[in-house]
Amino acid sequence: MLAYDLIGSGLIALGALSIATMRVGAVWGVSARGQTISAQAAASEGAPIRDGDRQYHQHSDASVVELEGNMGPRLIIVSNRVAVPEPGNRQMAGGLVVAVKAALRNRTGVWFGWSGKIDETETVEPRIVEHNHITYAVIDLSKNDFEEYYNGLANRVLWPILHYRVDLQEYSRADHSGYMRVNRQFADKLSAFLREDDVVWVHDYHLMPLARELRARGHLNPIGFFLHIPCAPLDILRTLPHHDEILGALTYYDLVGFQTENDRDNFAAYLLAMPGAKKGRGLTFEVEGRQTRIGAFPVSIETATYARLARNAARSPFAKEMTESLTGLRLVLGVDRLDYSKGIIQRINGFNRFLEDNPEWRSHVTLLQITPRSRSDIKDYAAIENEVTTLISRVNGRYGEASWTPIRYVNRSHSRAALAGIYRAANVALVTPLRDGMNLVAKEYVAAQDPENPGVLVLSQFAGAAAELTGALIVNPHESDAVAAALKRALGMPLSERRERHGPMLQHLLVHNIELWAADYLAALAETRQRPSLVSDLLAFLGPSRSSADRWAIPDARRQA
Ligand code: F6P
Repeated sequence: MLAYDLIGSGLIALGALSIATMRVGAVWGVSARGQTISAQAAASEGAPIRDGDRQYHQHSDASVVELEGNMGPRLIIVSNRVAVPEPGNRQMAGGLVVAVKAALRNRTGVWFGWSGKIDETETVEPRIVEHNHITYAVIDLSKNDFEEYYNGLANRVLWPILHYRVDLQEYSRADHSGYMRVNRQFADKLSAFLREDDVVWVHDYHLMPLARELRARGHLNPIGFFLHIPCAPLDILRTLPHHDEILGALTYYDLVGFQTENDRDNFAAYLLAMPGAKKGRGLTFEVEGRQTRIGAFPVSIETATYARLARNAARSPFAKEMTESLTGLRLVLGVDRLDYSKGIIQRINGFNRFLEDNPEWRSHVTLLQITPRSRSDIKDYAAIENEVTTLISRVNGRYGEASWTPIRYVNRSHSRAALAGIYRAANVALVTPLRDGMNLVAKEYVAAQDPENPGVLVLSQFAGAAAELTGALIVNPHESDAVAAALKRALGMPLSERRERHGPMLQHLLVHNIELWAADYLAALAETRQRPSLVSDLLAFLGPSRSSADRWAIPDARRQA
């Protein structure tokens, strides 16, 4: 699943979505510079027209369609990265992307976030793309925003801390304020097209303060948050300077979802340590009069679809070529983004130990490590790349022969189908993260197997998936001997035991699939609502200290609501 092509057919690029204050009842337009103009003038210059609460474009060009024409509740998904389906766009499809697409399937929805592009010209309006009933609304980031918000606080501070790597965090006040600034930008853009009956679902650590910003702009909508990565224990969370401003902001959401009960309980401990926080009924907490509920919602995959994809992919020319290239060798597979949290070094050390201890397996097995590069501007990512390549060449140099390479190392990403075919061909998957929110490679490997002749999953006890995939051989990746022993056991496992282990895991994933995940989360969100007085409380608190009074103004229509 790590990557697949998103080549859109029948894409419709829309005109700009404009932002303006509301004038309920009147029909009027908004110029490209944000000024109110007549509906006729708007139509002639292709600008959006507002009619009461509705906003639409009036064009003779059929390629332009309306954004806000559909009435009824919409699901507004917000995430840092948005997988905009554009022709020729080959995109990484991490867990978040697959999850968001499932949430939007069969629902009227908008997916809002960063386009993945850097542009110095300030985007006044999001760019809109409509594809397969999903409206994508994206903004570009400036170089400075990208550096301070994405590379900075999100990936040099929050990512390592939440993955228990306090030693790698590089906090700076500039990055902190960049993170807050981009969250405000997201809120400003989003605020303009939010309707009162929209349900908002925010994803991942880049956007923790977003609900507070939206509440401050008067939005009473149900707003949920889901953390795709782990949540560390209290003492680790507290190493984040000014953690109350960032982690504490999660209390402005109605529902905060985590991958596992362990992550959820870590956050519960954090909440209870907040001054004035009280535990309410069940998993509800009250902080400064706000009520927030927390829960565990283990993310999953489209199990049946993925199993079908793998079955078909196994017959593809790509899979055949790959299998032929193995010339009878057993295949051990590792698939990860190049990231220090994935335990790639520990996996190679384990494989090295396996070859050392089991000379009879040399020349009979190969480890295929597929590792697309990521976040390469960050020094820890460059460092892990050097470490991995050095270690692999050492192992290949030590054990390799002219006719046999112990480890095949590939940095390019593969299409979703090609990857499914590789999963199906692999005798063993080695999934050894040091800490992982869920790890969908593990789930996809299980789904991709031939149930009659399945491979074996060797899985780190520190992946969220370990709580569900109990038929895997569970290992501590820090112990090379244990990884080597599990690998030996997996390669020699009789068919009957492989089936016994695989069958229940597949059954579990067929039921606990991505559709169920989205439905469970949204049902829980629907049950939880913030108290209406929250917004006035918040404004009283924030009002005078903010630089721009306008930014916090609530339109009259909303204030009455
Ligand atoms: O786990 C968080 C996550 O969003 C994954 O879903 C995805 O694989 C990865 O991070 C993408 O990271 P980035 O957007 O920094 O490339």
